[in-house]
Amino acid sequence: MVQYRRVWSFSVSRLQLQPMARSLGRLLCLCLMPCLMVGHLLIYVVVSIFVFISYHPPEVPVLFVAPGTSSSSLKLAAHPLHPFWNLQLDSGALWNKLQHPLDRQYNPILRGNDTDAMGRLTNPAKVQPQVGVSTCRPDQRWVTHLPDFDTLPDQMRDFVLSMHCTEYPLLLNEPGFCGEGGNEEGPMLLIAVKSQTANFESRQAIRQTWGASGWVKGEAGGEGGLVRTVFLLGRQDGSTGIYPELGELLEVESRQHHDILQWDFRDTFFNLTLKDILFWRWLAANCPHARFIFKGDDDVFLRTRSLLDYLYQQEEDARSRTINGTGGAWDFVVGDVIINAAPNRQPSTKYYIPDSFYKGMYPAYAGGGGVVYSGELALRLKEVSERVYLFPIDDVYLGMCLHRLGISPTHHPGFMTFDLPEEARSKACAYHSVLLVHKRSPKEMLRLWSELQRLPPPC
Ligand SMILES: *[C@@H]1O[C@H](CO)[C@@H](O)[C@H](O)[C@H]1NC(C)=O
Ligand SMILES: *[C@@H]1O[C@H](CO)[C@@H](O)[C@H](O)[C@H]1NC(C)=O
Ligand SMILES: *[C@@H]1O[C@H](CO)[C@@H](O)[C@H](O)[C@H]1NC(C)=O
Repeated sequence: MVQYRRVWSFSVSRLQLQPMARSLGRLLCLCLMPCLMVGHLLIYVVVSIFVFISYHPPEVPVLFVAPGTSSSSLKLAAHPLHPFWNLQLDSGALWNKLQHPLDRQYNPILRGNDTDAMGRLTNPAKVQPQVGVSTCRPDQRWVTHLPDFDTLPDQMRDFVLSMHCTEYPLLLNEPGFCGEGGNEEGPMLLIAVKSQTANFESRQAIRQTWGASGWVKGEAGGEGGLVRTVFLLGRQDGSTGIYPELGELLEVESRQHHDILQWDFRDTFFNLTLKDILFWRWLAANCPHARFIFKGDDDVFLRTRSLLDYLYQQEEDARSRTINGTGGAWDFVVGDVIINAAPNRQPSTKYYIPDSFYKGMYPAYAGGGGVVYSGELALRLKEVSERVYLFPIDDVYLGMCLHRLGISPTHHPGFMTFDLPEEARSKACAYHSVLLVHKRSPKEMLRLWSELQRLPPPC
């Protein structure tokens, strides 16, 4: 009996406890599980925000042997690179202020895919509404954004007054340069040389040496290619400064050689960017099938035949990559690449860019008087230049356009911006691995050319 009672009482208490524990468990489940899940979610969100904020895109290393393609991406690169919710513009410089809304408007992360299969922009909008040529007069519209405008050097002031305009008519044109409508197969290498009206001697020396138009053989017995040279000029006469009137002489030269493009803007240092933009437009309309473009100054010496060999090699490499399945629009651009450059803040120098005009570092760019890129890339540069505000330094402007296309220029040590050591300059063997040297007078060009007719041996 006693045993029975004990068992009974025990089972009663168990019977009473079990439902309580079950409801308690349910209660716990109901209350704690959502709390736990929300807690986990919060941790996840916090961690992912932290990771996103602290993410820095990897730095592109400088390559010393050009591999040709730097990326096979057809899309535009995201710019700005920072998280997309950073809508605030933290610098008050004029150029950054003008460019910021455009970069946001055309940021592919925000806007999605707006390039077609060829990598061309499908809704190319203009930096500025199509301004008629008549409205391309100096304009005060941005002066109030530059608190120190009155103290800036003349060239900077002139630039700001006319930077809204990139449309200038051609005064001397060569519409049939690459055949009617540019439909014929383009030249292997189109050499575009920035020159000024008075530099007749330099242009003639270039025509007689490294810029000779026609079929040029490769140096190491390589396949040759058609080379054409064209000179890019602005206007430099009594109406744009204290210059002699050489317009008629220039016309004679143009009739004689048919290689002069001249636009109706003042030919000054800060207007050089206009030559790039207007040349890209001219190229798209008149010579869209050129395979490579060399753009350089009229005081450089280019080893055209070596360059041809090099370009064939690059094309060959790119072709094998395409066959193996990673080809794309060809982003080939090579030169003397400068990375992590900061704007020059010395008011007395030619390159001075005030803090009130531009803040930040320059993108990687090819400096020093010469750069080579593929014809396909030139056409894309023309498109993207519609979305990048004019910048006074032409090399940097090209870098800015490349940056927005997601392309980094490739460094080649053969582009000698800073010249050879003094004692090596006169020895032909020192030029063995050189593609371009800077600062050569017309006389030096002629002398070098005759010395370098054959591939010099390495010293
Ligand atoms: C973008 O869209 C075009 C067609 O509209 C397509 O051909 C192309 O492959 C797309 N690009 C990407 C990267 O999705
Ligand atoms: C560039 O050319 C335009 C048109 O000739 C001129 O108004 C402007 O002052 C020039 N800019 C510079 C920086 O010389
Ligand atoms: C392409 O593939 C071939 C063999 O299929 C190979 O020999 C060649 O090295 C590859 N080229 C590149 C650039 O990967």
